[in-house]
Amino acid sequence: MSSAVLVTGGAGYIGSHTVIELLEQGQQVVIVDNLYNSSYEAVRRIEQITNKKVTFYKADILDKQALREIFGRHPEISSVIHFAGLKAVGESTKIPLDYYYTNITGTITLLQVMKEVNVKNIVFSSSATVYGDPPIIPIPETCPIGSTNPYGRTKQFIESIIRDLCTAESDWNAALLRYFNPAGAHPSGILGENPLGVPNNLMPYLSQVAVGKREFLSIFGDDYPTKDGTAIRDYIHVVDLSKGHLAALKKLSEKPGCVEYNLGTGHGSTVLEMVHAFNKAVGRDLPYKIVPRRPGDVTNLTANPTLANNELQWKAEYDLDQTCASLWNWQSKNPNGLEDCPGEAPAEA
Ligand code: NAD
Ligand code: WQD
Repeated sequence: MSSAVLVTGGAGYIGSHTVIELLEQGQQVVIVDNLYNSSYEAVRRIEQITNKKVTFYKADILDKQALREIFGRHPEISSVIHFAGLKAVGESTKIPLDYYYTNITGTITLLQVMKEVNVKNIVFSSSATVYGDPPIIPIPETCPIGSTNPYGRTKQFIESIIRDLCTAESDWNAALLRYFNPAGAHPSGILGENPLGVPNNLMPYLSQVAVGKREFLSIFGDDYPTKDGTAIRDYIHVVDLSKGHLAALKKLSEKPGCVEYNLGTGHGSTVLEMVHAFNKAVGRDLPYKIVPRRPGDVTNLTANPTLANNELQWKAEYDLDQTCASLWNWQSKNPNGLEDCPGEAPAEA
């Protein structure tokens, strides 16, 4: 029997791009997503881009019975890429219980069902936020971790849960992928980030300024100890990031136990550099104002991606200009994201 990958959160930003890469590599995919932060239209667009039918289940990872039924119907599933969860740092400080419940209990529920059906390969979406305010730049995986917000702590705890599971049961294999700052969109221009409400993150906010949905960008602080005073992040194209998941799946086939990798470019950019790069893609200067720092932000999060480069034979390839151009291609063609697209998800594929 040919094997399939279960992708939780596969209708979301990174998940949908990863599903495309999997399908284009000839893999079978089953998506589970409750569409809390996404739209079924993303699944339709995956099908349009790949010209393949996607198996989709609108289901919650907290619903153990639903997960059992999905695994039961698809005995071909041999590994899981687990994206589903809540991801807004600011919101996590207001409703921490929701974050701990969805992210941690959701992951435990998924792992319990995987164990029942003997599927013991998982790629997990962790985050550079687990490093808190790191003492070493660029950050190696060996850097001490310690997140400063509830969202980041959910990632840190889930990493520990998965690591403990792999230690206790040697037939589990897991890749904990610490993403830096995903940006950009699919080169087709019909799939990209689709934030519901006011974007929390820099690039989606800036792209909404460009289409006139927001008046100006607020730059959070110009008094950081950097060359222009604004904070540094490692922006990685979402297609490069997605390919990292395929490389991680391949690694799991070597049965490595629990491994963790930074997925970043190794190149840091300031907020102002990002604004200038995006201005270049749009062809005009977008308005911004300098405002005070955002609480919880740190000066610099730049990856040392050497381990992933060497052990996964994976490397980010898009440069900043290409990343900004792909974002503008998507945003200018879809100024309201997927909001204008009607249509209910089928209850099941
Ligand atoms: P996203 O919100 O676009 O995708 C997450 C998907 O999970 C959504 O489609 C949502 O509907 C679904 N979902 C949420 N709760 C669910 C539940 N209980 N059951 C089933 N589905 C559920 O987010 P994204 O940017 O694609 O992020 C994917 C993963 O990567 C998340 O785990 C996130 O924490 C992590 N991550 C994201 C970033 C980033 O900046 N985007 C950075 C580091 C890590
Ligand atoms: C980037 C830079 C801001 C918005 C977060 C999470 C991280 C991961 C990615 C999920 C910072 C500045 C931003 C704005 C600004 N997500 N900024 N004006 O904070 O690095 O990372 O998203 O896992 O865990 O913490 O990303 O895009 O919000 O900010 O000046 O309107 O842009 O201060 O320096 P961040 P971001």
